[in-house]
Amino acid sequence: MPIRCTLNFRVSAFFLLVSTFLSCHSEGAESAVVTLDSIVIYKTHEWLAAKPTVYFHCQGGNRTTLPDVQKEHVLYSFNGEESWQPLTEFKSKKCKRCGFYEEDSIKSDDVFEEWEFCPSDFTAPAGKYVRFNPKEFNATFLCLKCTAYSNVTSTSSSTSSITDGGEKGMQSAIIIVISIVASVVLIIGMVVGYKYWQKKRRQQDQARFLKLFEDGDDIEDELGLSDVI
Ligand SMILES: *[C@@H]1O[C@H](CO)[C@@H](O)[C@H](O)[C@H]1NC(C)=O
Ligand SMILES: *[C@@H]1O[C@H](CO)[C@@H](O)[C@H](O)[C@H]1NC(C)=O
Ligand SMILES: *[C@@H]1O[C@H](CO)[C@@H](O)[C@H](O)[C@H]1NC(C)=O
Repeated sequence: MPIRCTLNFRVSAFFLLVSTFLSCHSEGAESAVVTLDSIVIYKTHEWLAAKPTVYFHCQGGNRTTLPDVQKEHVLYSFNGEESWQPLTEFKSKKCKRCGFYEEDSIKSDDVFEEWEFCPSDFTAPAGKYVRFNPKEFNATFLCLKCTAYSNVTSTSSSTSSITDGGEKGMQSAIIIVISIVASVVLIIGMVVGYKYWQKKRRQQDQARFLKLFEDGDDIEDELGLSDVI
C-alpha cells in the first residue's frame, strides 16, 4: 500500500511566519467513482405529480434516478452501496457537465442545477465535495481517488504522488528560505528605519532648540543675559 505525503506550508503575510507540517495517508484500493453521500432538496418543480422523480445526469453518461428523494427539506443520507450508486466516474482530471434534474411529465425536465463537476473539487482527506445551492439543494459527494487530482493551489491540503514529491519538497524549501530571508530583511529594515527616524528627530529637535536661542538673542541682549550663555 503506497504512502502519500503532503507538505503543507503557510506564510502569514503580516508576521511572515512560516509553518510547515507533513501529513501522510495511505492509499488503498480506491477508484475515481463518485458516490452521493447525502442530499436535501429545498423545492420540487413538478406541480402535477404527487412524488417527484429526481435524477442525476452527466453529459455523455447514464441518468441515475434517486428513488428515495421525494420530500423537501429532508436529509437523505446514503452509505454508497445503494443499488443506484455510484453516480458517476472520473477517468481523468477533466470536468464533466452534470446536474440534478426532475422529470417533468409535460414539458422538458426541470433543472435543479447544472454545473461543471470537477475531480479537483473534492478535498482531502475524505474526498468530500459539498454542492450547495441556496434555493434548490445541498448535496455532498464522496470520491476518495479524486483528491489525487486536486490542485495544490485550489485546496488547502492536497496530495502529491511519490514521483513529484521531491520536486514539491524542493519548491517548499525554496519558498521557506525566501520567506525567512524576507522576514529578516524586513526586520532589519524596520530597525534601521526606526533608528534613522530617531536620529532625524533628535537633529530636528536640536535645530529647533538652537533656533529658539538665536531668536532669543535679541531679547537676551536687551536683558543683558548674553554673557551668561
Ligand atoms: C450506461 O449503462 C449501460 C448499461 O447499464 C452501461 O453498459 C454503460 O457502460 C453505461 N455508460 C456509462 C457512461 O456509464
Ligand atoms: C450541507 O450539507 C452538509 C452535509 O449534511 C452540511 O455539513 C452542510 O453544513 C450543509 N450546508 C448548508 C449550507 O446547509
Ligand atoms: C489546476 O492546475 C492546472 C495545471 O496544473 C491548471 O491548468 C488549472 O487551471 C488548475 N485548476 C484550478 C481550479 O486551480
